[in-house]
Amino acid sequence: MLCVNLISAFSLLWVGGWCLDLKFPPGFQFGAATSAYQVEGAWNVSDKGENIWDSMLHSNPSLISDGMNGDVSCDSYHQWRTDVQMAHNLGLHFYRFSVSWSRILPTGFPNRISEDGAKYYNKLIDGLLKKGIEPVVTLYHFDLPQSIQTLGGWTNPLIADWFADYARIVFRLYADRVKTWITINEPLIMCDHIYNLGNVVPMVHEEELGPFLCNKNVLLAHAKAWRIYDEDFKPQYNGKLSIANNPIWLDPASEKDEELTELAREFGAGRYSDPIYSAEGGWPPSIEKIMAEYSKKQGYPYSRLPSFTDEEKKLIQGTYDFYSLNHYTARLVREAHKNETPGPWFVAGSKELNAVLEIDPTWAYTDLSYLAVAPKGIRRQIKWLKDRYNNVSILITENGFATRDPDLYDTGRINFIRDYLKEILLAIKEDGANVIGYTVWSLMDNFEWMFGYSLKFGLYSVDFKDPQRLREPRASAFFYSSVIKHHSLDIPHSSHQYHHLKRKNLIQDKTSATSRIRVNCELMLIYTLSLAYILVKTMH
Ligand code: BGC
Repeated sequence: MLCVNLISAFSLLWVGGWCLDLKFPPGFQFGAATSAYQVEGAWNVSDKGENIWDSMLHSNPSLISDGMNGDVSCDSYHQWRTDVQMAHNLGLHFYRFSVSWSRILPTGFPNRISEDGAKYYNKLIDGLLKKGIEPVVTLYHFDLPQSIQTLGGWTNPLIADWFADYARIVFRLYADRVKTWITINEPLIMCDHIYNLGNVVPMVHEEELGPFLCNKNVLLAHAKAWRIYDEDFKPQYNGKLSIANNPIWLDPASEKDEELTELAREFGAGRYSDPIYSAEGGWPPSIEKIMAEYSKKQGYPYSRLPSFTDEEKKLIQGTYDFYSLNHYTARLVREAHKNETPGPWFVAGSKELNAVLEIDPTWAYTDLSYLAVAPKGIRRQIKWLKDRYNNVSILITENGFATRDPDLYDTGRINFIRDYLKEILLAIKEDGANVIGYTVWSLMDNFEWMFGYSLKFGLYSVDFKDPQRLREPRASAFFYSSVIKHHSLDIPHSSHQYHHLKRKNLIQDKTSATSRIRVNCELMLIYTLSLAYILVKTMH
């Protein structure tokens, strides 16, 4: 009996991740990401048009905490060869970057294509391919042409066609070489965050209709681009497309909050994914109902969540080749107390759901307060997507760690990447999820939107005071390249090669923890078997 118990205890340790096989499945791909406005600079070279960041930060520099803007940033427009070399040094299988809409179409519309703009991405794509690195291209990453913002931006339904025009031109330019595409980055930020809080460029604060009009228009824009590719480019080039969603994982604060938590997941992840991935198409029915009732109570003769026509529903449904998942953090969900006004969604709660979102005090913080570290969340998020969307294959297109400290010896980032990768391995090996790759945000420090250059996400540090924008690998770059090289989290400690970067014992080095997982496991196996052997012997 004791023997059986010991063996079950061992199996539990196995399942609990203590004895996890730390190898990634064959074919699992590793990458790193950036986006156009965050790294390119060259805001006005040649005939490039203005985007919302150019125009808003030039007219209002104090909006950014360090008074900076992306005029020069990492200067990747000129330094792209160095970026490609960095990606190569890391051993990346792919590099995810975005195309700037107003660099390709200076007016925002297809009346003029910039030759210089088109050339820039040609050079970058060819440079990557020459080194055997796959370009993964995002069409839109928060940098709307100002001309389109002036016409209402993402709340104008015509934007779906304007985006489709732009997408067709980019496909024509690069589809012969680019095989993996992301149409739009993080609609949850573009719609829910921006319109509900109004504190991110384009600084429009309109909580009633803004998030929901934007939500619908983003889905239509994505679907039109997907269908253009599917009909006119896929037969020849056989690439794949998705939209990058960034659900925050939500756990119930207590048992009684379970149902509410599932509703909140549908309000966030579901509202942006069900119309594309679910078997029925359209909004999550629970959310459609809540929004209709809430709008009625507010006196609206219609729901603030705009409905889809049957044609629109069909247009959007099934427009995916994989699920692109950006994932950073998690929250606990609880019902709002009496007289407590929850919100704004999605950072603090939702008045429509009467739900409050909180950070578990036991979670570690990063230097970006809302990105608390909760690695178990990524496994649960993956499992939720797998179960809800018929075991869709998932590419993690962003995951990363923020620091204010520019130090090269960034053990916090190493621990973060390792802990999240371990949970991803558990999702693959224990939950049977089909995760096909992982992307670190970011290849290098860059313009972190409203935080300017004060927050660092880079595997490489960038000296923003240096005219050449000198890039240097951090400890995490050595760690990540070693993981990629060994295709495993079980990497020889000696292969980290970054101890020359260490500041005098200021930070505790926990990077050997992956090896410890393995040693723990082996010791546990030996103990269990020896005990079982002794037991069986004494019983006889
Ligand atoms: C965005 C990136 C951003 C990162 C860190 C993601 O939501 O796609 O552009 O830099 O988060 O905040």
